[in-house]
Amino acid sequence: MTEALPDRPTVTSPPLLARRWTIDDIPDQTGRTAVVTGANSGLGLRTAEALAAKGAHVLLACRNELKAATALEQVSAAATGTEPEVLPLDLADLASIRRAADHLDVRGTPIDILVNNAGVMALPRHQRTADGFDAQFGTNHLGHYALTGLLLPQLLRAPEARVVTVSSIAAWGGLINWLDPNWRVVYSRWLAYSQSKLANLLFTAELQRRARAAGSTLTAVAAHPGLSATNLYDSGPEKGVAAAFAAIQQRMLFSLGQSDAKGALPQLYAATMPGLAGNSYCGPAFEAFGYPRRTLRNPLAYSRFQARKLWELSAELTGVDYRWA
Ligand SMILES: NC(=O)c1ccc[n+]([C@@H]2O[C@H](COP(=O)([O-])OP(=O)(O)OC[C@H]3O[C@@H](n4cnc5c(N)ncnc54)[C@H](OP(=O)(O)O)[C@@H]3O)[C@@H](O)[C@H]2O)c1
Repeated sequence: MTEALPDRPTVTSPPLLARRWTIDDIPDQTGRTAVVTGANSGLGLRTAEALAAKGAHVLLACRNELKAATALEQVSAAATGTEPEVLPLDLADLASIRRAADHLDVRGTPIDILVNNAGVMALPRHQRTADGFDAQFGTNHLGHYALTGLLLPQLLRAPEARVVTVSSIAAWGGLINWLDPNWRVVYSRWLAYSQSKLANLLFTAELQRRARAAGSTLTAVAAHPGLSATNLYDSGPEKGVAAAFAAIQQRMLFSLGQSDAKGALPQLYAATMPGLAGNSYCGPAFEAFGYPRRTLRNPLAYSRFQARKLWELSAELTGVDYRWA
């Protein structure tokens, strides 16, 4: 029997030139708990600030203690509800992900919003995570797959949990390299990034399907920020010509891209807009810039076959199985 699933959500998007959706439109989040990965910089920091300003209890899931402490001060200054906290988390290390999840499990607090935001982009040389995965596939996709699965008990405790996974325009050029998803044979920094961002969309679709099949109210959605001025081009150690090229890219991003606050709007919209259909994809109205709306995606992201295959591969590589009851 065919599942009646919102693979291609049918809820209509606001018209292109509809009233602008801004952080003022975020409903009150008092009493809700939100975990934001990569909350010490760029879009994650702006997301954490906005959610805390609307009353949510925000956990800043960050890998660097010092950067996290500075971000915590900023988010605390914006907070109107429960004081935000830091949750130590390195997505490039399954042991760290398990520690973070165990920490929250002990508390037993429901998690209403999980924003899978952290990411690295186009690392110049092939790097591996602590578990030997390609650093981009490992951090951007596998780390978030494992984190979401390990946090599932707390997500299921919330009445209507929402999992937002941050993809990219780069997903349009994405293909899953099934023969070598960890890029052990030939490494291409941009193909590896695009693969990880397509994986974010396939993950969202499959998570939504599985939530629905389990009779859960959890909603999985995705978002992308267009082109936004953040530290994303800074994520790898570069030397010589590569360093100069990265610096130019960073400067271009800062001059062409919209602000990080505006770039964070699609993921905030995805995290807080009431009634958003499962597997919705939110992005700027003009793809690279603009106010948020529901947006288009690489057609490959609708492949149920690839989504299921990626899920099975992710479960095998990370050892994380999702338990829906
Ligand atoms: N900016 C854009 O134009 C753009 C476009 C498309 C998609 N995106 C996506 O937006 C998301 C946020 O990126 P951003 O633009 O805000 O860049 P950013 O300023 O570089 O922020 C990335 C965040 O991810 C964190 N991170 C990286 N590796 C991590 C790991 N192993 N464990 C935990 N945290 C880790 C970083 O921590 P550290 O500070 O410790 O490195 C940082 O907090 C990413 O998923 C990116 O792919 C951005």
